[in-house]
Amino acid sequence: MGLFITFEGIEGCGKTTQVGLAAEFLDSEGISHLVTEEPGATPLGAHIRKLLLNRNSFSLNPEAELFLFLADRAQHVRDVVLPALAEGKTVLCDRFSDASIAYQGFGRGLEVDTVRMLDRVAAGTLRPDRTFLFDLPVETSIERAMRRIGSGQSVSPEDRFEREEIAFHRRVRKGYLDLARKEPDRFVIVDGTGEIAAVQGRVRTELIGLLRKNRK
Ligand code: TMP
Repeated sequence: MGLFITFEGIEGCGKTTQVGLAAEFLDSEGISHLVTEEPGATPLGAHIRKLLLNRNSFSLNPEAELFLFLADRAQHVRDVVLPALAEGKTVLCDRFSDASIAYQGFGRGLEVDTVRMLDRVAAGTLRPDRTFLFDLPVETSIERAMRRIGSGQSVSPEDRFEREEIAFHRRVRKGYLDLARKEPDRFVIVDGTGEIAAVQGRVRTELIGLLRKNRK
């Protein structure tokens, strides 16, 4: 079985850039891998992602939102992640179960234990071997998001997430940090305010150790 590695954090934390750089590193080491993301990595997921991002045109309560993310995950795990792991690939996944707990649980206020329980239906027994949490203050996250919107890099439906009130993002950040504190062996908290190369250095050090252990 390959390694399952997830990348998490609040908006603008730089995780997507870091996933790309980590994939380049695995390439250079000749390690077969797959880069994937939630939501949106399957044909069903693409529809769900569009629905989630166009939510201004209809009402979507937190419970329904949770089930959309979980439906995306249920399909993604079985169609994409598990087959790749079974082929021995290292899977780098941009967001996974922790995002539902942080955003729908801590952020939207759904009961965390219930979110966790429902997530087990979606994710089955799949748990990440390692999770990188790119942590940064909400103010920095919002500044980065605003800069992206200002420079036209952000497509408008995505802005919806980025316009959520600051308090929501604070709850999400706190949620992630709580999760990381409870599972220190799985989580690696990385200071997301650092330079891209420095952040990647931290990720690579961890990946090297992990891959070495997995080979034994
Ligand atoms: P991203 O593509 O920038 O990661 O954005 C995906 C958005 O979806 C982001 O705001 C976090 C949110 N999300 C949840 O709220 N719950 C989830 O379970 C997942 C996977 C993502």
